[in-house]
Amino acid sequence: MNEIRLGTIGSGVIVQSILDGVQITEGISLEAVYSRTEEKGRELADKYGVQKVYTQLEEMLSDEEINFVYVASPNNLHYGQAKAALLHGKNVICEKPMCPRMEQVEELMALAQEKRLMLVDATPTAFFPNLGIVREKLPEIGRIRLVMSSYSQYSSRYDKLLAGEVSNVFSPDFAGGCLQDINYYNVYLNVTLFGKPQRAVYYPNMCRTGVDTSGIAILQYPDFVSECAGAKDTWGENCVQIQGEKGYLYIEGGANGMTNIRLCTREGESSFNLQDYSDRWLCEVKNMTELLLREDCGTIRKGLEVTRNVIGVMEEMRREAGIIFPDAL
Ligand SMILES: NC(=O)c1ccc[n+]([C@@H]2O[C@H](COP(=O)([O-])OP(=O)(O)OC[C@H]3O[C@@H](n4cnc5c(N)ncnc54)[C@H](OP(=O)(O)O)[C@@H]3O)[C@@H](O)[C@H]2O)c1
Repeated sequence: MNEIRLGTIGSGVIVQSILDGVQITEGISLEAVYSRTEEKGRELADKYGVQKVYTQLEEMLSDEEINFVYVASPNNLHYGQAKAALLHGKNVICEKPMCPRMEQVEELMALAQEKRLMLVDATPTAFFPNLGIVREKLPEIGRIRLVMSSYSQYSSRYDKLLAGEVSNVFSPDFAGGCLQDINYYNVYLNVTLFGKPQRAVYYPNMCRTGVDTSGIAILQYPDFVSECAGAKDTWGENCVQIQGEKGYLYIEGGANGMTNIRLCTREGESSFNLQDYSDRWLCEVKNMTELLLREDCGTIRKGLEVTRNVIGVMEEMRREAGIIFPDAL
């Protein structure tokens, strides 16, 4: 593939973070934006110097100049929009969490394969070079016994919730909640490093809308236990600590940052950092663009298997915790 020409869905902050990266990355460009309103779409298009604004998704999906659709809408819409894009012959980059249900991810994976299209999960963690360091250094800490992940990001939308306004991210109708939004990164890192746990339970702090604003997940692996704390109603230091019998790995910045990796063993301590971009989304855009231009289907497929398992684990935890979403569109 020579060039990625994007059509975007959604005009939230994440779209702009990604498009800031697109502007300074070779091989990827913005072709058109879709918004429910002409005004918001035009504002986004003007900011990134493109002409085309669609207010009908079907029309954007029929635009032959676009070969990739970037889905960055509320969580409950990803499945339907990604499916529509694939059916129109477009490759898809989908924001996390890809779908509320595992069977929906499986359906998208099968459709992409049938149509010989690329479907990629936009979880930044997968594109961090420091993830490779963690994988490489894990054997040095010996048999893993404990994993502790903490990711807290106080949200302005939590203030709104306290004031009586329900944003999509705190609504079950939009497949919202903290597990879906923030603790997702911790679960993703665990599943990408250690595979699917044998059992997963979630202890949420619930709010009146029927979703969680923070909580702790416990993932039980055959030989160790992993605890994942996530919050949209507190803030703190984001980090991951993987403890083994011979030492530990400390991931600064947490699962969605991985800004520095420390390895501590009885022999001493060392620090590693391969990430030359301080901006996590620029890092993601650069590395994802390379992957897509290479059409590295094996890596993309492996990534989707992780996504599928993450969504399965999340679904299991939500079910037991009583966090119920109406069917996604
Ligand atoms: N990878 C990351 O680090 C990262 C960071 C943040 C968010 N995300 C993910 O990105 C996605 C979007 O997050 P967000 O916070 O931007 O969500 P959001 O503000 O709730 O919605 C995103 C966009 O979707 C459109 N939209 C809003 N409500 C809608 C509705 N009822 N029906 C149809 N479209 C609607 C809006 O665009 P228009 O008004 O232009 O139609 C809006 O800008 C989520 O899945 C989130 O998990 C990822």
